[in-house]
Amino acid sequence: MPLLGNTLELLKYKNIAEYLKGVQSKYGDFCEIHFGFKRLLIISNGDVAHPIHTSSVTLSRKFLYRDLKNPGLDEMGIENSGIVFNRNLDEWKINREFVERIVRSRNFLRMIAGKTYEMATDMFKLWDILINDQREIDLSKWLEKFSGDISVTTITGLPAYSVHTCFNSLGYEDNCDNLSISERELSSKMISLLNSFFKTAQWFSLVPPFIRHAPGISFFNGKLSKLIKDFEVFLIEIIQKRRAEIDLLSETTLQSSDFLTLLLTVNTSHGIELHSHKSLNRSLNDYEIFGVIRDILFGSVETVTTSMCLVFYNICKYSSIKSKVLTEIYTIFGHSNSSNFLYEDLEKLSYCDALIKETLRLNTPFPYLPRSNNEPVEVGGYLWEKEQTFILHYQGININKNDWIDEEIFYPERFLRSEDNEQSMNASKVNAREAFATFGGGARVCPGKHWAIIEIKVLLVAVLMKYEIEFVNKDQGLDMAFDVSYHWRELKIRLRPRMQET
Ligand code: HEM
Repeated sequence: MPLLGNTLELLKYKNIAEYLKGVQSKYGDFCEIHFGFKRLLIISNGDVAHPIHTSSVTLSRKFLYRDLKNPGLDEMGIENSGIVFNRNLDEWKINREFVERIVRSRNFLRMIAGKTYEMATDMFKLWDILINDQREIDLSKWLEKFSGDISVTTITGLPAYSVHTCFNSLGYEDNCDNLSISERELSSKMISLLNSFFKTAQWFSLVPPFIRHAPGISFFNGKLSKLIKDFEVFLIEIIQKRRAEIDLLSETTLQSSDFLTLLLTVNTSHGIELHSHKSLNRSLNDYEIFGVIRDILFGSVETVTTSMCLVFYNICKYSSIKSKVLTEIYTIFGHSNSSNFLYEDLEKLSYCDALIKETLRLNTPFPYLPRSNNEPVEVGGYLWEKEQTFILHYQGININKNDWIDEEIFYPERFLRSEDNEQSMNASKVNAREAFATFGGGARVCPGKHWAIIEIKVLLVAVLMKYEIEFVNKDQGLDMAFDVSYHWRELKIRLRPRMQET
């Protein structure tokens, strides 16, 4: 339709994610749609996505932008800082390299696993009180707080309190004696500013400037701009305080391994060295660190919450899969519910790993994201000028019937590798990894994918070793809402302490 393009088609669907499924079945795996003057090239197939998702640096360096310039995101300051939307490619490369070096380190991943286990055990003490009082647990609420607390603690090193606040909101009083009032306030403020930041980003990216700055609306826009500024001031204060603390330490006394401390100490006598490239032969300044911390917080909370809920949903839904997971957990960790928890053992949980991947294949937290080319490229057999918007329809790639056998069937075994064959058992592609797009691919692939899987795995092991878990409502479905990613509305479960075998 002239001017509007495909915009009216959207009205037939619940949300954009559902619309993209419709687009795939109507127009195929690679097609072009128009929203007003904006052209979107939708990719729903791993082969077409290959030049973007490949690990080949020669190809993927042509797709370095997240998207075209967006005046709203620019106004928010996120096109020139951090990682996710940064269009300043020199800055993005440096920030990304620093992040990758930290999140790939075994010590850091070990810290993530340890903290997740410790905080899960802490949450279980509150759950035990609820179980004793025969109360149901809405996992979607609890895991949102849990994953927020883990992110705040592992990323900033601050203690986090929202799981305890959730408990108190149910009419209990948990004093959480080990935290001072100011520490509690700091972590709650961070979570609340982070949530506002999510919502604000949608407003700024979707609403055109002439509407945002129109009389009557500009006041609201100004309030949201203030929230963004408050978040920046808040994080920068934390960064400066930590920097000052580190400066006072002698070389040997640095104990913390949280992300912020590691980032502040890269290329200093306290931290890891990163001299592989000349531009990395320095430390990040406070504003650069702010951008990175903001984006890592942004990337890690909602996605992990949704994924954890999805995994428990499948555990409750498929009892045979729950049995296989338990057998594997007992084989690796034994039957005693001890805290003798080794990070190295997590790597042996291949069935749990397969379960998580299959869960995230069929229900992709980010069903799509944009990527844009910084050079002319060939995609899908056509040549494209630079600065196109390619929409990587991860959900469509993940269930593409050309790549997956029984693509709609939940079958974790497809991700297990047989002894004599590196290939997944139930994908028809030679390189099945390219058909699994949940974490994107290529130059901007999610840097937190191992981090996320470790958090989910640790929680899965910790919960199943301690509790029997079942739905409150036997007909529980996927009760999720969508904005830019999926998140659960409600997932009520009933827990019973698991009888320990002697
Ligand atoms: C299950 C959980 C997660 C899912 C499904 C997920 C998914 C994604 C996807 C699809 C992308 C876009 C990749 C691309 O363009 O090719 C992305 C990017 C990103 N993710 Fe994740 N993510 C998850 C967890 C995390 C965690 C725990 C972190 C914390 C480090 C994180 C940080 C980021 C960042 C910073 C980017 C931007 C990368 C860039 O533009 O260079 N994500 N994520």
